[in-house]
Amino acid sequence: MRLIACLVLALASSLSITEAVTPIVLWHGMGDSCCNPLSLGAIKRMLEKQLPGVYVYSVQIGNNMVEDIENGFLSNANKQVEQVCQTIRADPKLKGGYNSIGFSQGAQFLRALVQRCPNPPMRNLVSIGGQHQGVYGFPRCPGTNVTLCNYVRELLNLGAYVSFVQNNLIQAQYWHDPLNEEEYKQKSIFIADINNELTVNRSYAANLQTLKNLVLVKFLSDSMVQPRESEWFGFYQPGQDKTVLPLRNTTLYTQDRLGLKAMDAAGKLKFLACEGDHLQFTDTWFTQNIVKPYLSN
Ligand SMILES: *[C@@H]1O[C@H](CO)[C@@H](O)[C@H](O)[C@H]1NC(C)=O
Ligand SMILES: *[C@@H]1O[C@H](CO)[C@@H](O)[C@H](O)[C@H]1NC(C)=O
Ligand SMILES: *[C@@H]1O[C@H](CO)[C@@H](O)[C@H](O)[C@H]1NC(C)=O
Repeated sequence: MRLIACLVLALASSLSITEAVTPIVLWHGMGDSCCNPLSLGAIKRMLEKQLPGVYVYSVQIGNNMVEDIENGFLSNANKQVEQVCQTIRADPKLKGGYNSIGFSQGAQFLRALVQRCPNPPMRNLVSIGGQHQGVYGFPRCPGTNVTLCNYVRELLNLGAYVSFVQNNLIQAQYWHDPLNEEEYKQKSIFIADINNELTVNRSYAANLQTLKNLVLVKFLSDSMVQPRESEWFGFYQPGQDKTVLPLRNTTLYTQDRLGLKAMDAAGKLKFLACEGDHLQFTDTWFTQNIVKPYLSN
């Protein structure tokens, strides 16, 4: 009898250990895919090793890796967020909630997800080099597909807010032209919307504030994101493209259109600086600064 009780107890405690690890959703960046063994595949393996029993879902848009990469350029971010919302809602392993890690543009997509799709709940959102105020420049294009990159440049040169470009090119959907703030607010179908630029959607702010932490990682020598401060929610002062305002000096913050000021006051905004270029971090850095503090329970 005693032995059986012990066994039941042991089983229960081992179950509770596995259940205690919050599942993780990953969203890859531009030029990358869900499962590249050298990028997100490696991150997934590392998480599974460090957090035994964890369930990791890495977002794939399209039916295979080639489509997944192409959809990082020629697609519609709003549709992708809606699609991922349906996928995670239908996943029984995520119904109790999840943590998420977004890489580069994947980070702003995950933020749209928490703002628009509050169930199941996202606990912590880790943004690794995400561009939360958008970008004004396209200095480098990752990946090896030169044809695709040149096409993206041609489209951006046509004009990010030209409706055909805006609706079909992901990078145009987070293009933020500080010289034409009004046009940006009116015509950006994605980043201006999730940042409550034109109108304030109260549910966006309310949903964002349900996060335990919004962890914003900025790369100090980032040569891909213009301006780098966008990784910490800062941006150019409107009307010019030289002076960069940190988040706390922007109207987005001072008017608290998105609840960021309230989150800051509650200690939920974490600003992490990482040495190196875009997405260049070591396993040790990732373990110490991301896995241990934010993903371990
Ligand atoms: C706020 O956003 C949600 C999700 O996108 C949308 O369903 C809702 O209509 C929006 N509310 C307003 C007032 O625009
Ligand atoms: C590059 O992208 C274009 C457009 O999506 C595609 O047609 C082509 O097959 C790709 N090339 C390679 C080498 O993947
Ligand atoms: C941001 O605001 C602080 C406090 O008001 C001020 O001291 C600082 O100069 C501002 N920074 C910029 C870049 O405007």
